[in-house]
Amino acid sequence: MRHLTSLFDLTTAEVDEILKLANQLKIETKAGTRIAHCAGRVVVQVFEKPSLRTRVSFEAGISQLSGTSIFLSGKEAGLDGRETIEDISRVLGGYADIIILRTFSQQLIETVAQHAGCAVINALSDDYHPCQALTDVMTIQEHLGDITGKNIVYVGDGNNVAKSLAIACGHLKANITIAAPDGYWLSDDFVNRVQKEFSALQLTQTNNPQEAATNADVIYTDVWASMGQEAEKEKRAAEFADFQVNRELLDAANDDVLFMHCLPARRGLEVTEEAMDDSRSIIFNQAENRMHLAKGLMLWLLRQNEKS
Ligand code: CP
Ligand code: NVA
Repeated sequence: MRHLTSLFDLTTAEVDEILKLANQLKIETKAGTRIAHCAGRVVVQVFEKPSLRTRVSFEAGISQLSGTSIFLSGKEAGLDGRETIEDISRVLGGYADIIILRTFSQQLIETVAQHAGCAVINALSDDYHPCQALTDVMTIQEHLGDITGKNIVYVGDGNNVAKSLAIACGHLKANITIAAPDGYWLSDDFVNRVQKEFSALQLTQTNNPQEAATNADVIYTDVWASMGQEAEKEKRAAEFADFQVNRELLDAANDDVLFMHCLPARRGLEVTEEAMDDSRSIIFNQAENRMHLAKGLMLWLLRQNEKS
């Protein structure tokens, strides 16, 4: 049974297959074609944290493929202790073809994957956001073609989004630089794991965003305080003040630099209004691609699991 708990679950060839499928489905959608690739299939989404893009992109995506989506908050699903995670997993697995989970704990997603008997997708945990990173590389490829050797510069917290982007860069042979204040870099454990997995990956960490931006093909940022870190908002706003993406930072990069943000954005904090709306910003194309990628991913997983 195949899952997507993190991008470590996939081989590079499989990442390529998913991206290819997502691109094909995007072309079909844009042509106004609706093919019932997932007729009769059911996905159950269980989210412990809020979501606009992820929830709606999976729901819209499965509808376009003629499948059905059911949404439950974590509490409604019983993740607050109403019954065990193992029991919830087995029950949901009896109804669903895919369970899509947004949680705090990565371990919870892995436990559900072990017990559900159907595909499980990580729709964001404190550790990883693999669907976002697959979308990000799909979007960069749309603009730049082959991204081998391209310089992706992530300015901000070394969080779930940064980690998944780093693994995606490992798969696609792009270089990644993380520019973050001391104390907010990717952990040594993670760096060791990703470097072990992708020995050729050029991963650099620095606390100098201006220097990092030089030669950047992509500048990427995310919120300074992620969901669950609300109490640290003010402390982080002070610590990250020099790490804002603004027009000057974009100007320091390559002429055709792309600006990306997974959204939601806090305009005026990690990114200025000006940078969000700059002609170099591709944030809404990136957001739309969440749905095309979600479709490609669901279809790929269903096909894989039919074989097993
Ligand atoms: N980028 C992203 O995952 O957005 P949501 O939190 O709105 O799903
Ligand atoms: N790092 C952010 C991403 C939101 C899509 C968070 O976890 O809240």
